[in-house]
Formats: sequence, C-alpha cells, structure tokens
Amino acid sequence: MHIIIDLCIIEAMQRMATAKMDKNSELLRIIRTMSRIGLGTSGPAFRYQVERLVKALRNEGELREAEALEELLRSEESESKMKPSRLVQSFAALPGENLSPKVAPPADRETSAPLCEIHFPAESPISPVFPQSLTEAVERIIEEWAHVEELQAIGAAPPRTCMLFGNPGTGKTRLGYYMGDRLGLPVILARLDGLISSFLGTTARNIGTLFDFANRYRCLLLLDEFDALAKLRDDPQEVGEIKRVVNALLQNIDKRTAFGFTLAITNHEGLLDPAVWRRFEVRIKVPVPERRERELILERYLAPLPTDSVMLRFLSWITEGLTGSDLEAMVRSLKRYTTIHSKGDPTLIDALRAYALTNATAGREQRIRMVSDSPQEIAREIMSSPEIGLTQQDVGAVLGKDQATISRWLKAENLAERTMANAE
Ligand SMILES: Nc1ncnc2c1ncn2[C@@H]1O[C@H](COP(=O)(O)OP(=O)(O)OP(=O)(O)O)[C@@H](O)[C@H]1O
Ligand SMILES: [Mg+2]
Repeated sequence: MHIIIDLCIIEAMQRMATAKMDKNSELLRIIRTMSRIGLGTSGPAFRYQVERLVKALRNEGELREAEALEELLRSEESESKMKPSRLVQSFAALPGENLSPKVAPPADRETSAPLCEIHFPAESPISPVFPQSLTEAVERIIEEWAHVEELQAIGAAPPRTCMLFGNPGTGKTRLGYYMGDRLGLPVILARLDGLISSFLGTTARNIGTLFDFANRYRCLLLLDEFDALAKLRDDPQEVGEIKRVVNALLQNIDKRTAFGFTLAITNHEGLLDPAVWRRFEVRIKVPVPERRERELILERYLAPLPTDSVMLRFLSWITEGLTGSDLEAMVRSLKRYTTIHSKGDPTLIDALRAYALTNATAGREQRIRMVSDSPQEIAREIMSSPEIGLTQQDVGAVLGKDQATISRWLKAENLAERTMANAE
C-alpha cells in the first residue's frame, strides 16, 4: 500500500516538473487523500516526498492545494509528537525520566570536567558492516529490548549487561551508538580512560556520580575504553586505587541492572579483572572485517565516487588485515587525491601510491605498496588465487594495463620460475 502511495506522489512530482498537470484536476484531490493516509502510516521518507510536492505546487501557483497539504503535514507532526513510537511505549515500563537535550552531563566536582557525553538517537540508524553472525546477534539483543515490557512480565527480562571486545578500529563504539539509535534511547558515553587517568583519587566517586546520572534517565550506558582499568592495575603505586575503582564499578554495575542497559567496550578483554568480565551476561567479539565485509565497507565509503565489482574485489584483496577504521581513512585519502588531481585524470594506482606514501603501519599496507612498486607480483598473486574471481582483463583494467601485458607478465614469471627450478 505504501509503495502505491509513494509511486503516486512521485508520479505527481514528475508531472509537476514537466508542467503537465492539469490545474484543478482530479489528481490533486486524489493526492491530498493519499497524502493524508500516507502521513499517518508511513515514515520520514514519505513525509519528505509530500514536502517536495508542496514546493512543486507552490511553484505551479497551486497555493490552495499547497496550503491544504501543509496543514496535513502540521497536524501529522503534532499528532506524532503526542503518540510515542512502539519502542518508546515499551520503554515506558522502565524506571527513569526521559533525557532531554537540555540536561547537562554530570561533571567532576573539582575540575568541572564532564564525566560523559550524551548522544541522542539518530533518525535513520546505519549499522557498521559486520559478518552475518554478528549482525544476527545484535538484532537479537535489539529485538529482546524492544519487547522488554512483555519479557519482564513473564520473568524473562533481556540481558542488561553486554561486553563488546575486539581489535581497535573494528567499529565497537559505532556499534554502541547504533544500538542506542535502534532502540530509540539516548547513549551516555563514558570513557573510563578519561575518568580514571585524569582524576586519580576521585575516580571511584566520579564513577558513582556517572552511574547515578545514568540510572536517573532512560538510556543506554556505554562504558568505552573499559581496559583502562587494567592499565591502572599495572601500576604498583595504585594498588589501593584499583581496588577502590573495581569495587565501585562492580557495585554500580550490579545496582544498575535494576535500571537499564549497560554496554562495555574493550580492546584487551584478556587484561580485564575476571570479576568484572563475569558481570557481563552477553559477550560479543567484533572481528576484523573479512574480504566480503571489506568490499561492503569500501563501497559505502567510496560513495559518491563510482565503483564496480572488479574495483571493489581488487581493493578488498589488497586491504587484507585492515579494519573498518583503516579502510575509511584509506578511502578518505583516495577521495582527496582524486579530487585534487581531477584535471589530470588520476588512476586508482596513482591514488593508492599517494596513500601508501603517508601510511606506514605495521606492514598491513604491504599489498597496497606493492600495487605501485611491483604490479607484476600483484598480478601473479591475484591470478594464482581463483577465489578472488578476477580475470586477466580485470587485473589489467585496475592496474591500467591491457590484457596482453598481464599475460606477458605471467608468462615471463612462469619462465623465470621454470629456469630457477631447472637450475636447482
Ligand atoms: N565494520 C565497520 N563498518 C563500517 N565502518 C566501520 C567499521 N569499523 C569501523 N568503521 C569506521 O571506523 C570508525 C571508527 O570505528 P570505532 O571508533 O567504532 O572503532 P572501535 O572499535 O571503537 O575502535 P577503538 O577500539 O580504537 O576505540 C567508525 O566511526 C566507522 O566510521
Ligand atoms: Mg572505540
């Protein structure tokens, strides 16, 4: 039904654009009825179409119709403000007040430094790219939380503590925000490293203040950089302090389970105190992306630049071992290079070379470097890995060579190998 209404509106827009619409036509009346139905039942995309239609009507001088639709938009807006969405209704059962943008985050008593950041849910949540199993795990948690009221009523409340762990730059913090967005809950982001290192001695008190704040409101509490605790433990001067801090955390996490959802994040799960680790009912590993996920991440960040499957498969292969964060940084560099050098018709290889020049990190960029330093080697490796699914022509296209050149390189390579084998 929504699709039909959407199509109708789009059709009307197109007619407006080509000025084919007959003034006072039956179509205007139908559109008004459709808009009324659609605004009551569809999402923001539909609203956007109606707003565009209002503009088009005004341009066409159809002021009466434009005003009638504007009136519909206004009344739908005030109605939707009064009518909470399904998730919000469900969370009404949770204790706590609604957090509004007017509420200031709590601050350290002596320094006035804020103890957390508050992020309000985005309109259109975008998930980081994860393997299917992780996406399913996340969806399950969200689904259970969306039904918290019903589940609580039968004594099967969803898990209230979750630990995300994995390498730096794999999208853990991003995932925390995404979960808040999906649940329609504000995220209170506390970075334990900031809390601890900056306020040694008053850390336990700050943790208490932070949890009291989070327990007062309906929110998702995100405890980022959780391994900062482990760093503190390494310091022999701080034995008393770490005990105080760990105890404060354990007590506060236990108490919080009566209030809301807590998500902790760490890069070094092995360093965490076992008592802290045990507190988390759900533990999820966020992995470094595999080839298919890298393709999707690259495609997402390369937009609006044009891409094709050969280019994505190639880029995904040369970026093995890179995290989502690395890929995002690489794509930013490629975009900068291609934009600045747009007049000289830059090739992908030029852009990759420029990136490699300023990125020397732990050997993970080795293949990227090889693309410009030894393209023959790259061609040989790709052609000996059929799972990549690229032909000689494809490899030629991305390396800026014709198929005959790639074929010649491979023959020369084979010949060299045979000669070496014969010599041995
Ligand atoms: N799987 C992914 N899909 C899409 N984007 C990603 C992914 N992983 C990382 N990113 C990008 O990298 C940025 C950094 O990710 P994020 O800060 O969430 O990583 P992290 O795991 O929390 O890293 P750290 O452990 O260093 O804090 C994100 O904002 C996002 O733009
Ligand atoms: Mg992070």
